[in-house]
Amino acid sequence: MSAAAAAELARRYRTVRARTEALCAPLSPEDQVVQSMPDASPAKWHLAHTTWFFETFVLADRAFDPGFGFLFNSYYEAEGARVERARRGLLTRPPLDRVHAYRGDVDERVVNALARGALGDDVLAVLELGLHHEQQHQELILTDVKHLLGTQPLSPAYRSHLRREPVTAEPLAWRSLPGGVVSIGAPAQGFAFDNERPRHQVLLPPFRLATRPLVNREVLEFIAAGGYRDARLWLSEGWHMVRAEGWEAPLYWQRRDGAWLYYDLTGLRTVDPDEPACHLSYYEADALARFFAARLPSEAEWEVAELPIGPTADEERLHPRAAGDVWEWTASAYSAYPGFRPLAGALGEYNGKFMCNQLVLRGGSCFTPRGHARPSYRNFFPAAARWQMTGVRFARDA
Ligand SMILES: [Fe+2]
Repeated sequence: MSAAAAAELARRYRTVRARTEALCAPLSPEDQVVQSMPDASPAKWHLAHTTWFFETFVLADRAFDPGFGFLFNSYYEAEGARVERARRGLLTRPPLDRVHAYRGDVDERVVNALARGALGDDVLAVLELGLHHEQQHQELILTDVKHLLGTQPLSPAYRSHLRREPVTAEPLAWRSLPGGVVSIGAPAQGFAFDNERPRHQVLLPPFRLATRPLVNREVLEFIAAGGYRDARLWLSEGWHMVRAEGWEAPLYWQRRDGAWLYYDLTGLRTVDPDEPACHLSYYEADALARFFAARLPSEAEWEVAELPIGPTADEERLHPRAAGDVWEWTASAYSAYPGFRPLAGALGEYNGKFMCNQLVLRGGSCFTPRGHARPSYRNFFPAAARWQMTGVRFARDA
């Protein structure tokens, strides 16, 4: 790598790392320690784990604190034992300032190694992966903070000064696509996660796709028609969740004095019928599709339609406004593409071992860092997950 390319990579490294810290800046130290549910990690843990990734896979040492390997490994069996995921919020030690010192130490060593030209091509590729990994955790910081604050009694704001320009949703319309033998997946060159490759062919019958994601107006219609009480609309597992969890609206919605409110990162406010629907589980997305005589698209149908990839606005909004601001559930099981090869070594655990019991989501969201997602990007979550920025776009057979 030339000195200029190394300097550019160091600049990008510093930019990505600084953004993670900026996202945590509005939070109190207490906000950064607590874990609101097993699926959501504390911000302090995200700050440390993303640093652990660079220390483990780029620097390949444990120079700052030998104990941090156990504390901040997420799920890499090849890297040894770790704190149980549901207990991350019990780590009052190390304190937050020591985590910041850890970040500073690793940053200095990574940037110095880049400046010395000490990193081989294989390690530089892992550094690139680490930047994309950190961006994934930036989105998780926001979704996890939203869950932490949005489930507290007084619905406190993450930031009180986010933009709120009005939006208008077009009427739901349908676009016809021809199908045929199409290619999906990432090309061989350029950055992509291993699960996006190899690019391969898929046969699609002609189909139709909604011209926009589902909006809250349609969710309100579903609620008013008794959709959450009608077993005929639901998958068996979904109906079980409705009954067990008492679902009667998307996550963060609450009825007050006959009106529906929801929590966004500024606090509680009235549901805007024109905004893309968000915080839907796969089960809800599927039931809504059935109610509207539609279905969910496959990930191949989604990818060939060349739809918007989010986010549509900068960080002054952090709430869905248009297509690209919510991840869209697909009907495709998260599984290996034909010819899939996981990365070598411990990093082979990054994606491949999760290819069971999850569904693919496409498109990005208003929490996704700019430039992070791409048309072949495969996000994935279990069907019951609701705390991510998850919406839906309907499909129909031609
Ligand atoms: Fe991670």
